[in-house]
Amino acid sequence: MATKGRIDMLVRFSCLLLLLMGSCYSQRDKLLQGEELKDGDELLSTFGKFKLGFFTPPYSSKRYIGVRYQSGYYGVVWVANRNSPIIGKSGSLRLDSTDGNLKIFHSGGNPIAITSFEGARNTSVTLDQSGNLVLHELHSNGSIKGMLWQSFDYPTHALLPGMKLGINLQNGHQWLLRSWLTIFSPAEGSYTFGMDPNLTDRLIIKRLGEVRWTSGLWPNGEFKSWVDRGYNFSYTSNEQEKYFSYSVKDDVTSFPTLQITDDGSLNDDGGFSMLCSKEGRHCGSITDSAICNRGSSYFDVKFGLMSSGGGTKFMESDDMTLDDCRLKCYKNCSCVAYAATNRENITECEIWSRGTKFIKSHTDDSRTIYLEVQPKEIKWRIIVIVGALVVIFLCSLSYVARKKYKRKGTQSVKTNKANIDRLLQGQQLKDGDELLSTFGKFNLRFFSPQDLTNRYLGVWFNRPKDVMLMLYEEDYYELVWVAHWNSPISDHYGCLTIDSSDGNLKILHSRGSPISISSVQGSRKTSVTLLQSGNLVLHETSINGSIKLVLWQSFDYPTDTLLPEMKLGINLQTGRKWFLHSWLTDSSPAQGSFTLGKNPNASNLGFG
Ligand SMILES: *[C@@H]1O[C@H](CO)[C@@H](O)[C@H](O)[C@H]1NC(C)=O
Ligand SMILES: *[C@@H]1O[C@H](CO)[C@@H](O)[C@H](O)[C@H]1NC(C)=O
Ligand SMILES: *[C@@H]1O[C@H](CO)[C@@H](O)[C@H](O)[C@H]1NC(C)=O
Ligand SMILES: *[C@@H]1O[C@H](CO)[C@@H](O)[C@H](O)[C@H]1NC(C)=O
Ligand SMILES: *[C@@H]1O[C@H](CO)[C@@H](O)[C@H](O)[C@H]1NC(C)=O
Ligand SMILES: *[C@@H]1O[C@H](CO)[C@@H](O)[C@H](O)[C@H]1NC(C)=O
Repeated sequence: MATKGRIDMLVRFSCLLLLLMGSCYSQRDKLLQGEELKDGDELLSTFGKFKLGFFTPPYSSKRYIGVRYQSGYYGVVWVANRNSPIIGKSGSLRLDSTDGNLKIFHSGGNPIAITSFEGARNTSVTLDQSGNLVLHELHSNGSIKGMLWQSFDYPTHALLPGMKLGINLQNGHQWLLRSWLTIFSPAEGSYTFGMDPNLTDRLIIKRLGEVRWTSGLWPNGEFKSWVDRGYNFSYTSNEQEKYFSYSVKDDVTSFPTLQITDDGSLNDDGGFSMLCSKEGRHCGSITDSAICNRGSSYFDVKFGLMSSGGGTKFMESDDMTLDDCRLKCYKNCSCVAYAATNRENITECEIWSRGTKFIKSHTDDSRTIYLEVQPKEIKWRIIVIVGALVVIFLCSLSYVARKKYKRKGTQSVKTNKANIDRLLQGQQLKDGDELLSTFGKFNLRFFSPQDLTNRYLGVWFNRPKDVMLMLYEEDYYELVWVAHWNSPISDHYGCLTIDSSDGNLKILHSRGSPISISSVQGSRKTSVTLLQSGNLVLHETSINGSIKLVLWQSFDYPTDTLLPEMKLGINLQTGRKWFLHSWLTDSSPAQGSFTLGKNPNASNLGFG
């Protein structure tokens, strides 16, 4: 039944292991002529933000060498050999001892040249702090003579601060991004993102040469049809070059990247689309006249089967990836669903016509299906309204208290109720409400897993529905933390509250005594905040509402997901262990039997 879930969980853990183990190796940031970087070794930039090494995408047997962030959701930011992968782990990166060019040597054939300069030179290659891989020519005494080549001039699918998008007017070189073929294959895909060659002060996304999206013109100092997520763009135009570039402040993100995805979206490091809206409902000047008028329906990710079994199938030889089926389906109103047919590399796909029904299931032949859904129906609304009335009733006692504290809380209480990231003593978070972290990456809310009625309070990674994040396609993979594993609530009347006497976090519900989330001793004035990192933190708070110290944080009690900044290991002072544990089943977050943490008897990681 739950095989797929388990496999995904294992893959997920393995990726995590590779990720964590990867950081234990070499600390050098430079390669000299005669040295080699073997598969398994890494170059690490000064301060350790970027690393260069070999990697394999999920479900693939192909090895690529690329630059990636030490952490972050979309780790890989540059791929050296996207169109010439190697099989097996025989690869090594070297500077050719005769001509000084950067090459990948491997047992399966001729070396793959990354640079190709004429003439014999003495060179070195350095991964610099900005993530740029730079090939230098050296004097015979070893000092740097000049730069020969840099990876920033040959971007793949991602733009980092310091990179350019545009054209070098002197040699005609264009800086352009090109998407991956699929999320599992860095090979060149259908989408490009770059400067419009005709109107050089705007950016465009093209699919197979056809314009799909334009940014609007630059002169106003900003783009229309562009979501401002703190990525500060600038435009430079002079006699030598015309280009766009951007900078990001550290308090926005430490891992900035802008990526053109395999389905033509433009995403930031959190997986958010910078474009305005979903396919078919763009607010920018998307030039796709063929999109069928679907009213307010949209495609959502589901897991299960279609009643008719197979739909219309397309093979890899038809040059149809999942994204091609997506577009085919969007453009044809009689299409209601699409899916990949080969899970390994999603280079084959199929579509289904109206009349076929979706069946939710977790059998072995179930898979991820993108299904047309109508927005929630009236029946739903009635349930919500009735539920809301009861909740209002239950929570009404807190109203006076809430009002009292409201003024002090205005710093974080923004215009929209949904934008609150902090809860003060006396305030309550009802089932149906949410706390939203600054910049909206995470939210805290009540939910039911799968089809069950049990309710849990959890932190969710708040990604847009149309963005598929690497492996984690199914809805519940967005869940990153659960407050009360082993004590679910049986109805929709739960409220998260801060106890007014001792300042602890508690969940009130209609069927019994409150569930304690934190248990800090003594009576204190506290507040709880959902931080940008997804960490839910209980702070001791002074009379004027300012934050004093951390009393409790969810990052100390991870559930099944490791987020950046969380720890696995042990605090030697308190003896507290940080480890992850799997869900009991696909549909129950109760503690399962798999754990991942630091083995107390060894210095590395292991399964338990
Ligand atoms: C190395 O050689 C170059 C040219 O031969 C010279 O300009 C440079 O100063 C030398 N550097 C050192 C550290 O001796
Ligand atoms: C390259 O420079 C190094 C000094 O860093 C020197 O030891 C080596 O002999 C030089 N190699 C060639 C081929 O000139
Ligand atoms: C640029 O102009 C040429 C010639 O007018 C036209 O064929 C091409 O489609 C234009 N490109 C874009 C991106 O508008
Ligand atoms: C954006 O960058 C420009 C220069 O690149 C700078 O002058 C400006 O202050 C930045 N704006 C913000 C909001 O960071
Ligand atoms: C739309 O799909 C239906 C059924 O899959 C097919 O018969 C029809 O030819 C398609 N129309 C277009 C314009 O592709
Ligand atoms: C996709 O996987 C199939 C095997 O499932 C393989 O034959 C094919 O070459 C792969 N295609 C790509 C582009 O990786």
